[in-house]
Amino acid sequence: MARQKRLRFAQLEDMDNVVDGRCCEPGWFERAFGAQQAVGLELGCGRGEYTLAQARSRPDRGCLGVDRNGARLWKGAGIALDEGLANAFFLRSPIEHLEDHVPPGRVAEIWIPFPDPLPRNRQARHRLVSPLFLERYRQLLCPGGTVHLKTDDAHLVAFAEHAVHAVGGRILDGSDSLAGNDEATEVQTEYEKKYRGQGRTIYGRQFSLG
Ligand SMILES: C[S@@+](CC[C@H](N)C(=O)[O-])C[C@H]1O[C@@H](n2cnc3c(N)ncnc32)[C@H](O)[C@@H]1O
Repeated sequence: MARQKRLRFAQLEDMDNVVDGRCCEPGWFERAFGAQQAVGLELGCGRGEYTLAQARSRPDRGCLGVDRNGARLWKGAGIALDEGLANAFFLRSPIEHLEDHVPPGRVAEIWIPFPDPLPRNRQARHRLVSPLFLERYRQLLCPGGTVHLKTDDAHLVAFAEHAVHAVGGRILDGSDSLAGNDEATEVQTEYEKKYRGQGRTIYGRQFSLG
């Protein structure tokens, strides 16, 4: 393992706003966010740009970024500590284990920015917008809760729309930001900046899961 990565992993263990899903104590979610409050979730959060932005603009709401890649989480968790964002937390875990950590009905919004498109057919069930994952999210969302997807991959958009309908959900809104149109969306993640820089179209979809 590269030296820098080893250093980041060691620092992660000392960060009070990072929870390691492999060895965390039961009840950490309630200790972090209280017993009732609805939280925002960012899945495959990488550096956690949505978690940070939401934590800044909604100090009254808890925000949780989830990624299995600790080295990426390190960046967002460090920024949250530096800025004193007491409502932002980061969970290092596969999203497949989300229901072990997040109680049902506690999530108001889910952001899925630029998930890996996993283009091969045999990878389809691992896409973060597959029906299997959408069923997981449905358990976590509170009534009226919504999911926001952003991607540069048109096939993934079509796949997601199909999956939403397959689980009885509804597409609420959508936008296709054309290549070259660099209209600033409120939050741009590392991948969004990269794809916009390449002139790629960015698709946004918002949906409910019933
Ligand atoms: C293409 S990157 C996008 C990162 C960030 N959302 C952005 O827009 O810059 C996909 C991220 O999803 C994470 N990821 C993919 N599948 C995951 C899974 N099943 N569980 C947890 N994290 C996952 C990866 O580790 C990676 O950080």
